[in-house]
Amino acid sequence: MIRSVVRGIGSALPRRIMKNADFEGIVETSDEWIAQRTGIRQRHIAGDDETTASLGADAARAALSNAGLTPDDIDLVLVATSTPDNTFPATAVDIQNRLGIRHGFAFDMQAVCSGFIYAITTADLYIKGGLATRVLVIGAETFSRILDWTDRGTCVLFGDGSGALVLEAVESQATLADRGIVAASLRSDGTHKDKLFVDGGPGTTGTVGHLRMEGREVFKHAVGMITDVIEDVFAKAGITADDLDWFVPHQANKRIIDASARKLGIAEEKVVTTVQLHGNTSAASVPLALSVAVADGRIKKGDLVLLEAMGGGFTWGAVLVRW
Ligand code: ACO
Repeated sequence: MIRSVVRGIGSALPRRIMKNADFEGIVETSDEWIAQRTGIRQRHIAGDDETTASLGADAARAALSNAGLTPDDIDLVLVATSTPDNTFPATAVDIQNRLGIRHGFAFDMQAVCSGFIYAITTADLYIKGGLATRVLVIGAETFSRILDWTDRGTCVLFGDGSGALVLEAVESQATLADRGIVAASLRSDGTHKDKLFVDGGPGTTGTVGHLRMEGREVFKHAVGMITDVIEDVFAKAGITADDLDWFVPHQANKRIIDASARKLGIAEEKVVTTVQLHGNTSAASVPLALSVAVADGRIKKGDLVLLEAMGGGFTWGAVLVRW
């Protein structure tokens, strides 16, 4: 059988770091409120010369270098983003061009904060279906550009950045012990579409619009949805929380991360948390957190790693990877 195995990982962050205290002159808030309610201490904010495509291309270059590959080795570029550089063409073709890839294909996926989970699952199917051999799966966002900087309930929560993985087709016995993507589960429920949305778009206002969120409503649903989909992945893979080496959740709010881990019985020391460094970077948050934990030596080849995200739509999902 074919398994989709992680061959390399990379990330890119905007140069400018914005600390919680930097908001104090912009909206009525405080470092203490933001840190206490969310765990966020700082986030990176894109400068004029930094875009979703430039950050995505930088993360992709880092992932290729980590994998010991060149752009010519890639036949699919898949970008998860809700903040594309343009309405079209896809940011993925822009990144394909920036990398000098002249073959294969590239497209974007949009599942808001769950985008990377949807994209890695999609890449896995393209690999297993024989349509691609090596895929760059990129989560890249510049949410700072769609924030309402007068709304303290949202502008303090998000940041910009990108993370990328190279997935590669490998012949495998496809047991739980073998490297690669082991199991996945995806969900969405559009009845919640008005709880977290952008109030503009090409088909309605003809403008980009701004992010709007009923934070308390999102919070109320998050833990239940996340734990349901993870329990589904556990059942598919025939494992329990004790079998995990690492839990790398979407980085929206430390309280959601802690409550989910507690409900699932995942030990605190197995949880990778980077929300304090990056804020919520939507589709970039899981690959950014993975990059940190791989770079500092926590996640190693052969570890069993659980990824999870929940976001606008609502969309949610989980992926189990033997690293
Ligand atoms: N600084 C100070 N006070 C604030 C701020 C702020 N930045 N923001 C809101 N407040 C105030 C509110 O106005 C409210 O005041 P009031 O009681 O006088 O009305 C009070 O703080 C409490 O507001 P809540 O919204 O109830 O605060 P809560 O504890 O729920 O925290 C938060 C808000 C952090 C947004 C939380 O609800 C949350 O994390 N929600 C989930 C967000 C999430 O997970 N999103 C994931 C998906 S993101 C995606 O898909 C793009």
